[in-house]
Amino acid sequence: MAAVVLVGAQWGDEGKGKITDYLAEKAEVVVRYQGGSNAGHTVMVGEQEFKLHLVPSGILYPGKLCLIGNGVVVDPAVLVQELDGLAERGIDTSSLRISDRAHLILPYHKGLDAAEEERRGEAQIGTTKRGIGPSYVDKTARTGIRVGDLLDWEEFRGKLTRNLAAVNEVLAKIYDRPGYDLEVILDEYTGYARRLRPLIADTVRLVNEALKDGRRVLFEGAQGTLLDLDQGTYPFVTSSYPTAGGACIGAGVGPTKITKVLGVAKAYTTRVGAGPFPAEVTGRIGDTLREQGREYGTTTGRPRRCGWLDTVILRHAAEVNGLTGIALTKLDVLTGIDPLRICTGYRYGGEIIRDFPASLKVLQQCEPVYEEVPGWQEDITAARSLADLPAACRSYIRRLEELVGVPVHLIAVGPRRDQTIVVE
Ligand code: GTP
Repeated sequence: MAAVVLVGAQWGDEGKGKITDYLAEKAEVVVRYQGGSNAGHTVMVGEQEFKLHLVPSGILYPGKLCLIGNGVVVDPAVLVQELDGLAERGIDTSSLRISDRAHLILPYHKGLDAAEEERRGEAQIGTTKRGIGPSYVDKTARTGIRVGDLLDWEEFRGKLTRNLAAVNEVLAKIYDRPGYDLEVILDEYTGYARRLRPLIADTVRLVNEALKDGRRVLFEGAQGTLLDLDQGTYPFVTSSYPTAGGACIGAGVGPTKITKVLGVAKAYTTRVGAGPFPAEVTGRIGDTLREQGREYGTTTGRPRRCGWLDTVILRHAAEVNGLTGIALTKLDVLTGIDPLRICTGYRYGGEIIRDFPASLKVLQQCEPVYEEVPGWQEDITAARSLADLPAACRSYIRRLEELVGVPVHLIAVGPRRDQTIVVE
């Protein structure tokens, strides 16, 4: 492992938390490169469950340098709360650094997020209303306020004053909502500034120095390929770039520095919220997947839509991320479902297509083409090598590799750290 990017290969919630935690043990530096507190990694350490929203999973191992990169949008309220929560549980967070170039989430971003979702009515995107989208909008519009601005209070006050004038007008005129008070925000953010100041750093320099010194760096993605602003199911996407290229942009490293890209894929498919999902299964099997896989949102508690493994999606993920390997998670959830189905292509307009379409209208009309394969009944949660898995389970993995064209490197057979198989 030199510089590994870990990405979600589906619609997020692939169990990246567990895999990052596993890889973080071997890394010396762990970097979050996009998204914000809308991500919700769940990591089990022994019997203890940790839910991380902004802090890289590496924090659960003492002494790892953990960086929140420039591509992340930081809600200081959430960050401070997360740091306090970790400290209460005895986790040392002194090795965390936050990029001075990362953008801040301000209270009005959350207000705008909620107001805009409400205005969309039926066409809601299903955002978590945490202000992530509006903060990225400000970044692109070049009116964003950055973490580094917390180091210069006059600068912060000036930018906030200018932004509020515009935001309050928009809230009043377009959404008929009350505006925000400058002094109230200044008051709240002075506290965050005091608290976070020692952690603010030039993380671009820190990560590049680490790479130059040959230290092992893990770039930890949140969300997933199909939620990528460009490569995902637009407009039902997130406002950042969870794909591997996003790691270069969001951490400030060149693509030539990346040595491996690992895609985390669940052994089946899930999706949260609206939008087409060709391999979705409802009824008994859908319910079994949801219950056995505990498919409810980490942050929102929303039930997730469940479906068969879709290799059209995984081939798309393999391509746009340049995957060198797959970490297959939640294989244990499929135990007892027999036969299993794998989606190999889509039937559209009388033809079979194998590539993931850009148009949601097309995707909506796609019928899944399935291949039926035998399932297994054996409990696999204690398996620690490929040889421990039933033959049908090994065939399922092999078929996935053939259809996607990428080898499976890691297999998760349960939520705990030790429930992991490394494929030699
Ligand atoms: P996002 O970044 O929000 O996409 O999160 P994530 O990819 O980390 O997914 P999430 O937090 O929803 O994690 C999935 C859940 O599955 C967590 O509760 C994990 O503990 C659990 N989990 C992870 N791997 C496995 C596995 O192999 N088997 C089982 N049964 N559960 C797993």
